[in-house]
Amino acid sequence: MPKVIKKLVAPPKPVAPPIPPPTTEVLPKPKKGPPTPQTLRGMKDILPVDQKYWSLVRRKAEELADVYGFQRIDTPILEETALFVRGVGKATDMVEKEMFTFLDLGEESMTLRPEHTAPIARAFINHGMWNLPQPIRLFDWGPVFRHERPQAGRYRQFTQGGMELFGDRHPVIDAHLIHVAWSLLKEIGLEVLVQVNSIGDVASREVYKEKLLAYYRTKRSAICENCKKRLLKNPMRLLDCKEDGCVAIRAEAPQIVDHLNEESKNHFVRVLEYLDELQVPYQLNPHLVRGLDYYTHTVFEIVSADESDAAQAALAGGGRYDGLIETLGGPPTPACGFGWGIERIILKLKEKNVPVPELPMAEVYLAQLGEPARRRMLALFGQLRVEGIRVAENFSRDALKAQLEVANRLGVRFTLILGQKEVLDGTILIRDMDSGIQEIVDFKKVVPALKKKLAQPALPRGGAPVEPATLVAEEEKLLFEEAKLEPEEKIEEKEPEEKPKHKKA
Ligand code: HAM
Repeated sequence: MPKVIKKLVAPPKPVAPPIPPPTTEVLPKPKKGPPTPQTLRGMKDILPVDQKYWSLVRRKAEELADVYGFQRIDTPILEETALFVRGVGKATDMVEKEMFTFLDLGEESMTLRPEHTAPIARAFINHGMWNLPQPIRLFDWGPVFRHERPQAGRYRQFTQGGMELFGDRHPVIDAHLIHVAWSLLKEIGLEVLVQVNSIGDVASREVYKEKLLAYYRTKRSAICENCKKRLLKNPMRLLDCKEDGCVAIRAEAPQIVDHLNEESKNHFVRVLEYLDELQVPYQLNPHLVRGLDYYTHTVFEIVSADESDAAQAALAGGGRYDGLIETLGGPPTPACGFGWGIERIILKLKEKNVPVPELPMAEVYLAQLGEPARRRMLALFGQLRVEGIRVAENFSRDALKAQLEVANRLGVRFTLILGQKEVLDGTILIRDMDSGIQEIVDFKKVVPALKKKLAQPALPRGGAPVEPATLVAEEEKLLFEEAKLEPEEKIEEKEPEEKPKHKKA
């Protein structure tokens, strides 16, 4: 009855439309079924949360490559198996045990590259780079695959970045490359140490191998099973064994530096002098031989300063390989290079809590209310991107409150708000997220207006967070403006006045 009277007394007030719920989908729980496939052992996803580490290391590597004149090369991930058998060496652990090798349709043997050096040497020959003015400086970055027993810092797929320099045998090159490899690690905030050794030229090594074999033959019964095999196949690798018993025996083994011929000794001494000049901290490690057959003269690894002895400690490794190009069928070409192990570097950054810059975030958020506004914002996003402004949005959402909450969470400097009223007026709101101040600007002039604001230095983000209650009020205000309605408070204010009247009546 009172409602009828109300209708007779006054024409019905338009009722505010309900605030539309956010349209973000809530996804259902997965159904029970066969288990979801997992990543293979030793292989990892690199999630968005870790990308800032990757970005830091990659940018630094690219910057160094650029400054030192190393040009990027990318080789295929799959290569003929023969490339590694010939290049890296048949008797190396890498070729014997660690390669992902398969027959392509039962015909050709192929291998997922276990490293970049042999493929780059192949490319050097295939593309006649020896005809170009030397030296050739190349920079690489990409995944490599080794079928190793996975553990912390040892994966089956991992990323190597590296540099290779062809056509220069001067010892200054070795020191220069060690310096570049060390600089990246130092400059991203790690305390590292270079371990360096010389395995001499082929002639020095032949003499040394005989001495080494003579020594180890007397210890045969005391060494591990693996080392017994190394004794026959790859005696230099005896020095690499990490088994306690073998480490003790190694302590008394002849050292290669004592068996270098004049030329090899000379080369090594000069490398060390240049390292002194460059003030690169290094440690002579007479047992460092590296596992790959192509090395000659200088070999090095860079390790974290606090755990130089630990397994999987090497963050980078490399050396000179003057014979590789010839082994693969090219002309005699001296070469030197190194590879960084990117996952290990990132693990170390995390372990040491090294501060890493956040990835650039959006500066501006686009919030829209209603379909016409959505369409305009869709186009505006493109315009802003062309101007180099980083933008975030939730185009599929309708609730302004939810959008402003996202904008707040993202820490953008400005939010552009477009409701139906603004669409009709040809305007748009620019909200400064720090101060909360909103300015109405001509929609056509929003890009220059925003650029001007962004050019001003950002205030430290200390402003009070936008309270959801404020946002709700704003959202409602906008909605009412959109529908040209009065705010709900006014309707509510009138109703209590009318109700007593009806009661009295
Ligand atoms: P490498 O020492 O075998 O050298 O590998 C380089 C770096 O890759 C290592 O220092 C380490 O940081 C990382 N690494 C090696 N194995 C793994 C693994 N299983 N999981 C994660 N990281 C690993 C080479 O590959 C040579 N091609 C380097 C070179 C370039 N020599 C001359 N030029």
